[in-house]
Amino acid sequence: MNSLLLHCRPGFEGEVCAEISEHAANLNVAGYAKAKPGSAYAEFICSEADGAERLMSGQRFDRLIFPRQWARGRFIELPESDRISVLLDALADYPVCGSLWLEVFDSNEGKELSNFCKKFEAPLRKALAKAGRLEEDVRKPRLLLTFRSGREVFLGLAESDNSAMWPMGIPRLKFPREAPSRSTLKLEEAWHHFIPRAEWDARLAPAMTAVDLGAAPGGWTWQLVNRHLKVIAVDNGPMAESLMDSGLVEHQRADGFVFRPRRPVDWMVCDIVEKPARTAALIETWLGEGLCREAVVNLKLPMKQRYAEVRRLLERIEDGLRERGVKVAIGCKQLYHDREEVTCHLRRL
Ligand SMILES: C[S@@+](CC[C@H](N)C(=O)[O-])C[C@H]1O[C@@H](n2cnc3c(N)ncnc32)[C@H](O)[C@@H]1O
Repeated sequence: MNSLLLHCRPGFEGEVCAEISEHAANLNVAGYAKAKPGSAYAEFICSEADGAERLMSGQRFDRLIFPRQWARGRFIELPESDRISVLLDALADYPVCGSLWLEVFDSNEGKELSNFCKKFEAPLRKALAKAGRLEEDVRKPRLLLTFRSGREVFLGLAESDNSAMWPMGIPRLKFPREAPSRSTLKLEEAWHHFIPRAEWDARLAPAMTAVDLGAAPGGWTWQLVNRHLKVIAVDNGPMAESLMDSGLVEHQRADGFVFRPRRPVDWMVCDIVEKPARTAALIETWLGEGLCREAVVNLKLPMKQRYAEVRRLLERIEDGLRERGVKVAIGCKQLYHDREEVTCHLRRL
């Protein structure tokens, strides 16, 4: 069980390899990363048998930027028929698991395989329970079976509190019909990722104040209004009428990079597509000058060296805030709804 499998958005395999290699080196876990471009996954092959387990226990999954899901284990081949017996045999040296997810990669092959997985899941679950391999328990590791084809599967393990919240790291969020744009789901996903559900009521509370930079037509503002926050929506473009009717939105036709609120606000969110260095400077100003307490900001990715460049930008923000004597917790993730961008979350401590 010496391989670590990492799912990602197709096209970002190189970023995952760079990121996991850096963490492995920091944790003294020997091995190498490999990936096929466009496959939507990468593998880190560890030199030692306990390497993948050490890597997972030394690294919080939610601190990783590009991986959507991870699991330690190995690929095995499956026959055309009676796959369940072969799986049960192969799982003999695995611990009893507390839950089961069947996964595929976010690729065209993966989409085709997901129907097979849906049909296969119920009989497999039954067989695993009967064989004593599966006992519902959150403290036991989760069994993650990732199908690469009908004939190949990765037998993976991950702790349920240190892996993706949703199968394949893909959130099942329903698009709210009243929201003015699909981007709305990006902010909702960011909240799910960065804010524990139990803290939503305190940190996204009615009558709190927010500034939405680059707000039009209003998908992110809609999320804030939906939680009854008062929003200053900054954009030269028009906001959806329905949002303006809520009475909770003040529309300011201004440049988001110049605009400053009269009084500090609880939240700043920013979805302006801009050069990442300029957005990073904006983040530093808002948090550093105490203009907001929490922020969710989209950071557009550069064309090359995307992981190294994101790390550099985050370090620059961290250094800048430290120099100002401001303590801020910073998170960064390529969310499912992000394309050529990552989402940063910042909170003054
Ligand atoms: C991706 S859209 C935002 C979508 C929005 N978050 C939503 O959910 O509907 C980017 C917006 O940024 C605005 N924008 C671009 N540059 C800007 C700037 N310097 N100041 C303010 N808004 C800007 C554009 O007019 C555009 O409406």
